[in-house]
Amino acid sequence: MSTPLLRITDLSVSYALPRRGTGLGTGAALREVSLDVRAGEILGIVGETGSGKTTLARATVGLVTPATGTITFDGVDIGGLQGSALRGFRRRGQVQLVFQDPLRSLDPDLTVGQLVSEPLAIAGVPRSEQRVRVEEAIGLVGLDPSTIHDRLPRQLSGGQRQRIALARAIVTRPQLLFCDEPVSALDVSNRNLVLSLLDRLRRELGLAVVIIAHDLSSLAGVADRIAVFYRSRLVESGPVEEVLTRPAHPYTGLLTASAPSVAHEDRLRPADLRLEQGAEPPKGGPDSCVFLARCRFAHEACHQQPLTTPLPGTADRTAACHAATTWPSQIATTSTSTAADQPAAAG
Ligand SMILES: Nc1ncnc2c1ncn2[C@@H]1O[C@H](COP(=O)(O)OP(=O)(O)OP(=O)(O)O)[C@@H](O)[C@H]1O
Ligand code: SF4
Ligand SMILES: [Mg+2]
Repeated sequence: MSTPLLRITDLSVSYALPRRGTGLGTGAALREVSLDVRAGEILGIVGETGSGKTTLARATVGLVTPATGTITFDGVDIGGLQGSALRGFRRRGQVQLVFQDPLRSLDPDLTVGQLVSEPLAIAGVPRSEQRVRVEEAIGLVGLDPSTIHDRLPRQLSGGQRQRIALARAIVTRPQLLFCDEPVSALDVSNRNLVLSLLDRLRRELGLAVVIIAHDLSSLAGVADRIAVFYRSRLVESGPVEEVLTRPAHPYTGLLTASAPSVAHEDRLRPADLRLEQGAEPPKGGPDSCVFLARCRFAHEACHQQPLTTPLPGTADRTAACHAATTWPSQIATTSTSTAADQPAAAG
């Protein structure tokens, strides 16, 4: 397998947080995350709110400094860059981030033309080249430069704003693009348009794209691989089809069971994965698995957080679960006996 474009190894990020009465403390936003992004692929990152998705993107573009771990992009350790080296890396724009909220990230007083040319000016591209590059980028995202060039962000629709944010990101011809929830604020038709646009940009420009989302459904049709985050940790990763049809972490199982568009044979049901009604949630300590309190497969070993390790017998999958290879058969057994005992209760 070729060297990945981006390699993140044991990355931990903490934020300073005010603590009542005791001054400043820290809160972990990412813990011991290891993840690769390959040239030309679409990697989908999914996880509930606060699980660390945006922090991963911000650390990769140099907006937050890792507490520990390394981030290697195209063979260069970018996690440790500081001062002018960091500014130079960000100016070149080889890794770009499209922020979660395009309206807030676009300066309301700048026209589309000014917004899209700004990264070129920062990267030092001569003014004489900028106009052509701006029009090329606006055209690549499917908009007509002649009608949109002089408009302000408030004069654009939500879908157009998302495209302008994308044009601004690709104008520097990056190798890697992070899109933070690019479709969560869009209606279904705009959502599909933006996702197929990202797929086209990946093919035409050879870009690697990381799409961050809350739900698996929007990633299912576009991503090559999926990475699942839960409470600051990467709990599972692998090729999209395999993760969707044979999840290895109970949290991924819950996500797939709850996503109506993720239809597959032997479909999991949310009830197969949730704690039984009235059951006491397992009690954990600071070292326990992050999913312990919600996990019906918890056992003694789970009082120690499992490492994210390759899944036995697979080429390209990782999971952080002590029962990664055994819980699916527990469900099969339970479901079979439930079906036999109570034939009318299926669903
Ligand atoms: N600037 C900050 N200062 C302090 N804590 C922060 C800061 N940014 C994020 N956090 C905390 O870090 C954790 C991870 O946040 P992050 O924004 O990466 O989550 P996320 O997965 O992107 O969530 P969402 O889906 O809501 O966007 C959260 O607990 C969050 O409160
Ligand atoms: S390690 Fe244990 S508690 Fe955590 S998800 Fe796996 S089975 Fe559940
Ligand atoms: Mg976020």
